[in-house]
Amino acid sequence: MSDKKILVSGVKPTGRPHIGNYFGAMKQFVDLQDSYESRIFVANLHALTSIQNASELKEMSQGVVEDYLGIGLDPSKTTLYLQSDVPHVAELAWIFNCLVTMPTLMRAHAFKDAEAKNKEINVGIFDYPILMAADILVHDADVVPVGKDQEQHIEMAREIARKFNGTYGETFKEPKALIIDSVATVPGTDGQKMSKSYNNTIPLFASDEEIEKAIMGIVTDSGQDIPKNVYEIHKLIRSEDDLQKLYRDKKGQYKELKGILIEDLKNFIQPMVKRREEKSGEAQSVITEGGKKMREVVHNKMKEVREKVGLIHHE
Ligand code: TYM
Repeated sequence: MSDKKILVSGVKPTGRPHIGNYFGAMKQFVDLQDSYESRIFVANLHALTSIQNASELKEMSQGVVEDYLGIGLDPSKTTLYLQSDVPHVAELAWIFNCLVTMPTLMRAHAFKDAEAKNKEINVGIFDYPILMAADILVHDADVVPVGKDQEQHIEMAREIARKFNGTYGETFKEPKALIIDSVATVPGTDGQKMSKSYNNTIPLFASDEEIEKAIMGIVTDSGQDIPKNVYEIHKLIRSEDDLQKLYRDKKGQYKELKGILIEDLKNFIQPMVKRREEKSGEAQSVITEGGKKMREVVHNKMKEVREKVGLIHHE
């Protein structure tokens, strides 16, 4: 293993990734893959909390691996794997379950939101932050690139590391969330946070037609000089200097500005769609290799954990 710091993160295969996922987190996976020892997974165990259809889950999970290759993650630099191929994380999550109290988990935003909406909450949703802590801590990760909505989960992982260390002796490193302020919460086509559940997304691997439909559907307020919802998305792919001039020159011309955004988005997305198509054939062997490598890597950590908590370890 190299002496680089360790970076860990994942994406849940519960729908096509959107440009909020990309700018908030996935782009950082690519930008940082040379400077860190990177381990990026598909959070398919987490997806089980909402997808209870085997073929759908398999297809979505394979899709996220292809997405990773499409955005430019290079398997010779970044280990790509399925969360379920490293079953140690589920074992570690159980160990953490026995340390963490119910009130701690009841503080989680995701749980509180689901409760406020009177959703039926399965134990997996309640326990979600614990599994996430296991994903991260099993690697002794230094940094975890994520969007703002995951900040609390990383804070919980740090708390869990401290609690374990306090109970059983120094074992886990406290990871740091890596959140970039300007893209911490990427807005969707309606100005709210872009989210798979709000129907306001621009898919990362969108077709030209999907891009046109999403952008033309942006609601603009005719009282504004600058169509804010259009500008905020445009800002992701063009410099602000450039945009301020453009939006001043085309003041009030919403349709034209949308047209320019559509062209810019197409130019930005098309090369990734192309690379995804070219690389998709490699996805299967990449995850087989990645899973094998990660099982070997976390084996010693889990041996140490079992020893510390008193589970007798047999090779
Ligand atoms: P997921 O799949 O919902 O989202 C993947 C990443 O995208 C970020 N994100 C955003 N960033 C900025 N603006 C937005 N509108 C936006 N929407 C989503 C998320 O913050 C995330 O970084 N629980 C995680 C998956 C996970 C994980 C982990 C991540 C499981 N275990 C361990 C890191 C480490 C999730 O559901 O992400």
